[in-house]
Amino acid sequence: MGRKGIILAGGTGSRLFPMTRVTSKQLLMVYDKPMIYYPLSTFMLGGIREILIITTSNHLELFKTLLGDGSNYGIELQYQIQPQPEGLAQAFLLGEKFIQESPAALILGDNLFHGNDFVTQLLEANQTIKPTIFAYPVSDPERYGVVEFSNEGKVLSIEEKPKNPKSRYAITGLYFYDSSVVDKAKSLKPSDRGELEITDLNKAYLAEESLTVKLMGRGMAWLDTGTFDSLNDASSYIRTVQNRQGFKIGCIEEVAWRKGWIDDKKLLEHAHLSIKSGYGNYLINLLEDKKEQVF
Ligand code: DAU
Repeated sequence: MGRKGIILAGGTGSRLFPMTRVTSKQLLMVYDKPMIYYPLSTFMLGGIREILIITTSNHLELFKTLLGDGSNYGIELQYQIQPQPEGLAQAFLLGEKFIQESPAALILGDNLFHGNDFVTQLLEANQTIKPTIFAYPVSDPERYGVVEFSNEGKVLSIEEKPKNPKSRYAITGLYFYDSSVVDKAKSLKPSDRGELEITDLNKAYLAEESLTVKLMGRGMAWLDTGTFDSLNDASSYIRTVQNRQGFKIGCIEEVAWRKGWIDDKKLLEHAHLSIKSGYGNYLINLLEDKKEQVF
């Protein structure tokens, strides 16, 4: 059975008030596209086409208006409300009917990944049934889930926001699990901060020795969008790389087209919707540069 994907795009966005008083954080702009395009394109690049978007009741209609049932991008989208932000692992309880007996993946709607070999890592993680999570070196590990490795690269421990981190490796917001994930999520208890912690779910997999933690190297960018400054930095990063290369990052229309999930006609339809912003011209140019298909 194919792996199903969940994008968690709820939360109050209070660290970005007043920007997020009337809209979802995951719909804010990251340079030239809504934030959710980036995690959505990550799933698409990994070959995940059945996706559940979890958000708040206030923002559900906005996501539906933007992305619909996914057919315009050759994917299947479903939606679910999370009434309260009660933890990342709650996604698997809310998504139980959607997941059924499949393996499942979760990505946080505000996580941006970009870099060399990322698509290979994604495809590998999706192709194996074994659970895979990713660790990335950061200068402020105390803000994240932190993984400790032995000299041989074996995972020794995982801790959520430790005061004294045992390594600089943060666990990113991208998780690939097997079909036991719903049962494991059901057995979790809320933490001191009242949330079903993804770290506790990872620890359950670690306890049965089935968890693979892959390193994302220095050549990768894993960007934060949690504050005004980090959001602005993410926009600047996307703008700089895109303008230098002439390739867009996180462009779901392009990914769908290159995967062969939508045809030239559909790509042109997308192009005409955004023709005045220049985004549409980029899509038209893809058709013209068809022979130069670098990905
Ligand atoms: O970013 C990766 C980190 O994400 C991991 O290293 C941590 O282990 C993991 O716990 C998580 O860290 P935080 O707990 O600090 O994440 P935060 O509360 O910022 O939530 C991440 C995003 O998920 C945020 O955009 C809001 C959304 N969210 C969060 C919760 C708790 C929801 O949609 N629903 C929720 O219930």
